[in-house]
Amino acid sequence: MPDAAPPAGLLDRLHALLGPRGLLTEPGDIAPHLSDWRGLYRGAALAVARPADAAEVAAVVRLCAEGGTPITVQGGNTSMVGGATPDESGRHLVLSLARLNRIRDLDPVDMTMTAEAGVVLKAAQVAAAEAGCLFPLSLGAEGTATVGGVLSTNAGGNTTVRYGNARELMLGLEVVLPDGSLWNGLRRLRKDNTGYALRHLFVGAEGTLGIVTAAVLRMFPRARDTALAFCAVADEEAALALFRRFRDRDEGAVRAFEYMSGAGVDFAVRHIEGVTLPVAARADHYVLVDLASSRPDAGLREMAEAVLFEAMEAGLVLDAALAESEAQAQRIWRIREEHPEAQKREGASVKNDVSVPVSKVPEMIRRCSAALRELVPGSRPVPFGHIGDGNIHMNLEQPEGMDPAAFLARSHDIMDCVNAVVRDLGGSFSAEHGIGRLKTGMMADWRGGAELAAMQAIKAALDPRGIMNPGRVLP
Ligand code: MLT
Ligand code: ZN
Repeated sequence: MPDAAPPAGLLDRLHALLGPRGLLTEPGDIAPHLSDWRGLYRGAALAVARPADAAEVAAVVRLCAEGGTPITVQGGNTSMVGGATPDESGRHLVLSLARLNRIRDLDPVDMTMTAEAGVVLKAAQVAAAEAGCLFPLSLGAEGTATVGGVLSTNAGGNTTVRYGNARELMLGLEVVLPDGSLWNGLRRLRKDNTGYALRHLFVGAEGTLGIVTAAVLRMFPRARDTALAFCAVADEEAALALFRRFRDRDEGAVRAFEYMSGAGVDFAVRHIEGVTLPVAARADHYVLVDLASSRPDAGLREMAEAVLFEAMEAGLVLDAALAESEAQAQRIWRIREEHPEAQKREGASVKNDVSVPVSKVPEMIRRCSAALRELVPGSRPVPFGHIGDGNIHMNLEQPEGMDPAAFLARSHDIMDCVNAVVRDLGGSFSAEHGIGRLKTGMMADWRGGAELAAMQAIKAALDPRGIMNPGRVLP
């Protein structure tokens, strides 16, 4: 239960503004908004506001600004770092954008989609496809994650290697600022050099500077030729060498290039129904190569066969399976997509979403794996992810039979162990999941000095009362 009373009359005023559909106060109704899917955080809240449009969001923020009520902004609540979970004080109002779920405009000439913050990522993809286009951002949580959330965290995912992060897919934004004013920056321009690029401030700010209520997103031509290969490769270096071979052959065709360790694939086969190994024998290292082109005659399958044949001759690839149908391609993708779920079912795990220069990935995986095994004897490193972006999820699974709580108690030692290697290789301690509540303590160490001081100055200028997602991002 909240340990602090809300400012007098706040809930009544919110109720008058939003009506019964727009304000949840019953414990059973607000419970799903108080914890994260990883089970790392359980918070409390005054209530959950569910405004129906941007004007209502602005009005809610104005009411909160008057009394200094902190706001936790929530999209699909799929944060990996506790970014969308209120703290334990019970003083926060959770502001859910779920009802802002309209696609306001879709233009196949401009190749843009104007979508509200609560549109689920999958729904944005489907809307683009129905218009004969592609909205390429794709990640495991796409059935639940929302447009506002993926922009606020500058999500990456599986197609960054070809289309960039969420930031690169955004042309304009509509944002409610911490004083409750509504900024309409929904411009759909490819060129717009008119002062500070304010829109970019809000991407990756995790709701600490304002609330994204809608965005103009870039669309692309849809794929008319595709090919997908699942390969067992000799080692980490071979995985990177294969990436270079595909990239050098046809950079624009590499839609995704994902690395998986033997352990991660074993877990997926063991725990996820319908997942089977597409190649004949188990290996310690695998990659998934997803090729796509808008040219119907791109000949991607032949290209993939040629590259894989040469890579086998060179000893890089041990075995490979090419998908024979779209259904098989989807089955193969599940091996990779279900990694987080499979890891969860195997036991407790600690996530390390890190990046290094692409050339350093093999060294990073080797050094981190060795250091982690030494730190927690019997633990099982599960590196996987977006090798083409230099972003590997250097996750660690608990030793078999160990008490999960005892393993998780070592989370920060485990993260520090990985981060030491990552820092030495010129990398980042958060590649695509953001800072949330989990990593605020690392900011001073990694981004201290002038960089953090500038971030704090921006925060103080836009949100002087500190009501927007306090406790996230900045220490
Ligand atoms: C993914 O790419 O599947 C997630 O970002 C990784 C994770 O769960 O660690
Ligand atoms: Zn990822």
